[in-house]
Amino acid sequence: MSAHGEPRPLASHPVTGLTGTANVPGDKSISHRSLIFGAMAVGETRVTGLLEGQDVLDTASAMRAFGAEVTREEDGTWSIHGVGVGGFSEPEAVIDCGNSGTGVRLIMGAMATSPISATFTGDASLRSRPMGRITDPLALFGTAAYGRKGGRLPMTLVGAATPVPVRYEVPVPSAQVKSAVLLAGLNAPGQTVVIEREATRDHSERMLAGFGAEITSEDSPEGRVITLTGRPELRPQTITVPRDPSSAAFPVCAALITPGSDVLVPNIGLNPTRAGLFETLREMGADLSYENPREEGGEPVADLRARFSENMQGIEVPPERAPSMIDEYPVLSVVAACASGKTVMRGVKELRVKESDRIDAMARGLEACGVTIEEDQDTLIVHGRGPGGVPGGATCEARLDHRIAMSFLVLGMGAASAVRVDDAGPIATSFPIFESLMTELGARLEP
Ligand code: S3P
Repeated sequence: MSAHGEPRPLASHPVTGLTGTANVPGDKSISHRSLIFGAMAVGETRVTGLLEGQDVLDTASAMRAFGAEVTREEDGTWSIHGVGVGGFSEPEAVIDCGNSGTGVRLIMGAMATSPISATFTGDASLRSRPMGRITDPLALFGTAAYGRKGGRLPMTLVGAATPVPVRYEVPVPSAQVKSAVLLAGLNAPGQTVVIEREATRDHSERMLAGFGAEITSEDSPEGRVITLTGRPELRPQTITVPRDPSSAAFPVCAALITPGSDVLVPNIGLNPTRAGLFETLREMGADLSYENPREEGGEPVADLRARFSENMQGIEVPPERAPSMIDEYPVLSVVAACASGKTVMRGVKELRVKESDRIDAMARGLEACGVTIEEDQDTLIVHGRGPGGVPGGATCEARLDHRIAMSFLVLGMGAASAVRVDDAGPIATSFPIFESLMTELGARLEP
C-alpha cells in the first residue's frame, strides 16, 4: 500500500542519453526544521523553497494543531506565525505524521517540555519504527510516554510541567535524536548538553543559532559537544531552503549508470555532514564535477554535473562516512551493481530502522535483478556486474519507502531490461516531482 492510497506499480525501462537540467526540490531536513522552529519563534517566519512533499505537509498540519498559524501564499512562500518557546497549545486530535520519522521525532522533542499531552501516529512504516530512542532522553526532562510494545506508535506523550535540563550522550548516530533533545532543551531552564560520538547533520544547530538561540558546538575527545541555553526568545527568520542533496542523488546516479548521459543538477548544498555520497562516487571513478562552487547562507553550494561513467570501480566505503550519506546507501548500491568489482558498505545497521529495513529491501531487490549480494546485520556488500551488466527484469518491493522505490527505478534506466516497483506512491513523501523530472531528462517510466 502506498502511504496515502492504493499501490501504484511503475516500471522503469532501459534508456540511453539522460540529458538536461534537474531542478530538484528543497531539502527535507531543513524544510521540517523551518516549520518547527518557525512555530516556536515569536512573530512571522517566511520560507521559500520549502519541500512540498507529504512528509513536510504533515509537519505543517501538526504545527497548526499545536497552535501556530501556517499558510502557503500563492507564489509558494510559506508563512508561519509562531507561538514562542513553551507556547504550544494542546492538540484536539491525534497528530498523524504519515511516513515521516523526522517529523514525528522532532515534534515530540518540541512539545516534550510543555505542560500538554499529544498522541502521535503514522502509516504502517512509521508505526513499525522505534521511538524509544527519543522517549528515553525525553524522560530525563520529565516527559512521560505511553506507546505500544517496543516503543512503537501510536504513542501519547505527556509533556514535563517543570522540565529540568539534560546532559545526554546520543547512543546511535542520529540527527533526529540529537535534534529532539535540543528542541526539548529549548523550554528547559539552564543548559542542555548533547554529545554525539560521530557528527551527524548539523542543520538544527545552524538554524537554532540563526533563530537567535545561544548554542555552541565543540569537538572534544568524547565527540561533538553541543550546549544550548534554555528559554531563549526565538526571533522569526526569512529562510531560503537549499535544494536537497539526498534528492539530487537520484538524477546524479541515474546519469552515471545510463550510457550517453550528461545531467546538470544546480544549486545543491554540499554541507560536509550531507555530502558523503558524492565523495564516494568520485572515489569510485564517477565523472561527477562540482561546477561554480560558492557559499550561500553560510553553506557550501555547487552545481553538480554527472556524466555516464564507464569505468567505475567498487570500493570499501569508510564506515565513519556513514552519517554523512546515511540516506544514500540504497542508490549507492544501485551504482555499485553497475560498477566493476565489489563495493563494501560497513557500519550501516541504522539502515535497518529507516522507512524500511533498507539493507534487506535493497538486497532482495538487487538479487531479483541478478546481482550477487552479501549482508550481515551491519554490512551490505554488492558484487558489481559492470556497465550494462545488471539483467534487471524483476519487480522489486518498495516497502512504503520512497528511497527504495526511486533507487530501483534508477536501476531500470541502466539495466538490460526493465525494473518494476510494486508501489511508487511513497515517492511523494520526499520528491513529488521525481517522475516528471526524470522523464524530462529522458527516462521511460510507465505504469
Ligand atoms: C534526518 C536524519 C536522519 C535521516 C533522515 C533525516 C534529519 O535520520 O535518515 O532522513 O532530518 O534529522 P536519523 O537521525 O535516524 O539518522
